[in-house]
Amino acid sequence: MAMAPTRVLFVCLGNICRSPAAEGVFLSQLEQAGLSHAFAVDSAGTGGWHVGHPADARMRAAAERRGILLTSRARQLEREDLDRFDHILTMDEDNLAAVRALAGSGSHRATVTPITSYCRRHGASHVPDPYYGGSQGFEQVLDLLDDACAGLLAQLEAKAGEAEAADGGGPASGGGPDGGSGNGGDAA
Ligand code: 4NP
Repeated sequence: MAMAPTRVLFVCLGNICRSPAAEGVFLSQLEQAGLSHAFAVDSAGTGGWHVGHPADARMRAAAERRGILLTSRARQLEREDLDRFDHILTMDEDNLAAVRALAGSGSHRATVTPITSYCRRHGASHVPDPYYGGSQGFEQVLDLLDDACAGLLAQLEAKAGEAEAADGGGPASGGGPDGGSGNGGDAA
């Protein structure tokens, strides 16, 4: 039986700089790892000002210099995303608070985690908003995302390996759907 893809959503404020970049970086890493088929990847913004717009030209140019094409169009996060996705990764504290506020007190499928918690080389607590700054900010975004997305992928692969081992290859023993525990915590 084909495994359902793991669904990953990156979230920032406008969905034109950081989260489309995260989407592009993660997709690029998946392609390099031969894992594109195993994931469904998207991005969204907590705000709606840029809905329908392509990623910021400065962000696209910086990504392209690293061989990464950003092709997404901005959309606004909606409550249903918390049940459509397995993992929601936020860029900063404001995004995290906004996603949690949207989630409310009810249960939901997705884990909601600051993406920088997956960094293995950088010590950043958030991915700084580059929108009002200079070109160096866009490079920093890509540096942090490259590190964080690699850490995220390593962790998701490790978890998938554990789940496969626990399954033991036999008929399903538990019978319940997986991943629907309404995780509002901060661990993937
Ligand atoms: P993002 O950056 O959240 O990384 O997409 C921003 C884009 C637009 C605005 C702010 C941040 N803005 O104020 O329009």
